Amino acid sequence: MQAIVLVGGEGTRLRPLTFGTPKPMVPIMNVPFLARTLERLYEAGIRDVILPAGYMPQAITEYFGDGSRLGMKITYVIEDEPLGTAGAIKNVEQHITGPFFVLNGDVLTSLDLQAMIDFHKQKGGLGVLHLITVEDPSAFGCVVHDENGRISQFVEKPPKGSEPTNDVNAGTYLLDPKVLEMIPPGRNVSIERETFPKVLADGHTLYAYTTNDYWIDLGRPEHYLSAHRDILTGAMPLRLEPGISGPGAAAVRNNPNLVAPLFIGEDVSIDPHAKIGPNVVLGDRCSIGANAQLTDSVLWDNVTVEEGARMDEAIVASGARIGASARIGRGSVLGHDVVIEPGAIVPEGGRVGPAAPISA
Ligand code: GDD
Ligand code: MG
Repeated sequence: MQAIVLVGGEGTRLRPLTFGTPKPMVPIMNVPFLARTLERLYEAGIRDVILPAGYMPQAITEYFGDGSRLGMKITYVIEDEPLGTAGAIKNVEQHITGPFFVLNGDVLTSLDLQAMIDFHKQKGGLGVLHLITVEDPSAFGCVVHDENGRISQFVEKPPKGSEPTNDVNAGTYLLDPKVLEMIPPGRNVSIERETFPKVLADGHTLYAYTTNDYWIDLGRPEHYLSAHRDILTGAMPLRLEPGISGPGAAAVRNNPNLVAPLFIGEDVSIDPHAKIGPNVVLGDRCSIGANAQLTDSVLWDNVTVEEGARMDEAIVASGARIGASARIGRGSVLGHDVVIEPGAIVPEGGRVGPAAPISA
């Protein structure tokens, strides 16, 4: 079985983080998210992965290479212009040899891919879509189906109040190669808005595989933070030690000012009078000064927080420096190498970072 992981989106909703890092390389517990996805594919026995990329592809190709380090074969196909979710699949057609998975590159889930293969074998049809039931479906693709799972309609991002169902497309598909014939080549095509409706209109069948797995689309800062909180608290299973985890955990375990759950990267320096936690992730080589206070936040590598600075529900990209006594308002997102002056105040929901992509 092969898998296509869609990794060409620009990650606009995660800016300014994605001005320096393409969305699939944004770290989850300090490891690029795409590495987690590839691990999951490996565990399901999938070794042949195709990555249609376009935005900052070199950050992806340099990290994963040909995939041999992971025991996989990775084929990259770079788009000059974004081809959309189906156009990207059509563009890798020459590499596809049989039924294949398609994964949105920004979904964190505990879905069992093998169970989905079994479901497809049992049901038949041109494909199976993983669905999840959510309270507010307006931000997603609604998928209407009967009790046998047979899909009758797709409504992408319906206006609030007009959603036909709470079951949404969860971004994992298992498709028959026949679907490729229904995607026009050479232009931008959306699988959700164009291809799936066409498959139904042509008289073919698609099935819904609805589960109550853990599932989150990481594409927004608040979801990115929730995903970390869920991993730290164990709501999303990721084989972490409970409490204080990570390669730097042993060195700080006796510090009474640390409140679990926490994840501590390598070579982190924490002043004994810093207050950290709960739900904080510190990347490698972070440095936290005396009386700094950090709660519910994710810091990437090489972030310096000087004495007395405070943050809550913040995301801080690599290399940033938070000056002494600065206040980082709740929900703020600070981009790569940002410097916050001592005593400065970043308002709630602040976005600080470069105004355009920086080279990867
Ligand atoms: N190669 C390539 N080219 N990849 C792309 C392109 C493109 O032009 N456009 C988007 N992608 C990738 C993104 O990087 C992401 O991994 C995936 O396709 C989905 O794109 P998003 O931009 O994240 O879509 P969304 O979150 O608004 O909606 C999609 O996901 C929801 C579930 O998370 C849709 O599939 C919805 O129906 C679904 O509910
Ligand atoms: Mg998304």
